[in-house]
Amino acid sequence: MKCRIGLISGDGIGPEIVREAKKVLDKTAVKYGHSFSYTELLLGGASIDVHGVPLTEETIRKAEMCDAVLMGSIGGDARTSPWYRLEPSKRPEAGLLGIRKALNLFANLRPAYLYEELRAACPLREDISAAGFDMLIMRELTGGLYFGERKTEEVDGVLTAVDTLSYNEHEIRRIAKRAFDIAVKRRKKVCSVDKANVLDSSRLWRKIVEEVAKDYPEVELSHMYVDNCAMQLVMNPAQFDVILTENMFGDILSDEASMVTGSIGMLSSASLNDTKFGLYEPSHGSAPDIAGQNKANPIATILSAAMMLRYTFDLDREADAVEAAVRQVLKEGYRTGDILSEGCTYTTTTQMGDLIAARI
Ligand code: IPM
Ligand code: MG
Repeated sequence: MKCRIGLISGDGIGPEIVREAKKVLDKTAVKYGHSFSYTELLLGGASIDVHGVPLTEETIRKAEMCDAVLMGSIGGDARTSPWYRLEPSKRPEAGLLGIRKALNLFANLRPAYLYEELRAACPLREDISAAGFDMLIMRELTGGLYFGERKTEEVDGVLTAVDTLSYNEHEIRRIAKRAFDIAVKRRKKVCSVDKANVLDSSRLWRKIVEEVAKDYPEVELSHMYVDNCAMQLVMNPAQFDVILTENMFGDILSDEASMVTGSIGMLSSASLNDTKFGLYEPSHGSAPDIAGQNKANPIATILSAAMMLRYTFDLDREADAVEAAVRQVLKEGYRTGDILSEGCTYTTTTQMGDLIAARI
């Protein structure tokens, strides 16, 4: 199969982790007889440095010409990087939000799974982690607070800032359908997370999710308030299968879910639209504090590449092979610093990529 893949190395640890994911993809192509071609795309701080803006029309156009895009991470240290002296709409994060919106990537899938081998890195009490967990957060990605109207102004001499949380029924319905479609292929449970005891947008969310649920009688639907969900994720993560939630809640809960798996360096993600196209990226940030030191964990990016093989290219066997290689390396005791525990072998970013590629 011929696949055109866009690569956004981005900022911070981005170039290092994307390089390792590409290594694993290249090995997969050789092993299974595919041809992957790559186009480099600029986004975030890397784009600001060249063009003065975090996202250009050229990047959008080039991305649209690819079948899928694999991204590392964008952004820098907000206290020290000159990117953060620009107005908010010109900072690296605005580029990421812009490309998500431009490509209509409304469905963000973030799986959080506790690897048996990483149990020692799990920060939860042993009686809780013993049950294991395997959940998928379906985060709405192009609506809500991130994209509502916002402004900062002086009202009667007092500085006042406003952000708007708005969803319409179509936006809720299409993401809810995605969650149910995926639940059908998993353990058939959807937990919709909202704040319906306070927010109108959540009350509409709940109403539309209940309507969509009628078309999926085999899936069990439950509702949970977001504050309770934050608590349940550390108290009893095994209860969750698919968590369906709006943009900002999903941003927060997915960081929490990733940390209970042992490290945010393990959590992959796929951002999908109505076509087969997807933007695949680790859920973690650009970790500027360890950038360029060959210390970052490339596994979330490698697992994001596996999601790309599965969701955009329907290459399930190849995706399985990448996931199995990751598991094998963990079983053999190799660990980057973030997941290191006693008795394991420390590996650098490059070594981790080499080890995984060698097991494809
Ligand atoms: C994520 C990130 C982004 C988000 C930031 C970098 C804008 O935290 O992908 O979770 O909030 O969506
Ligand atoms: Mg986030």
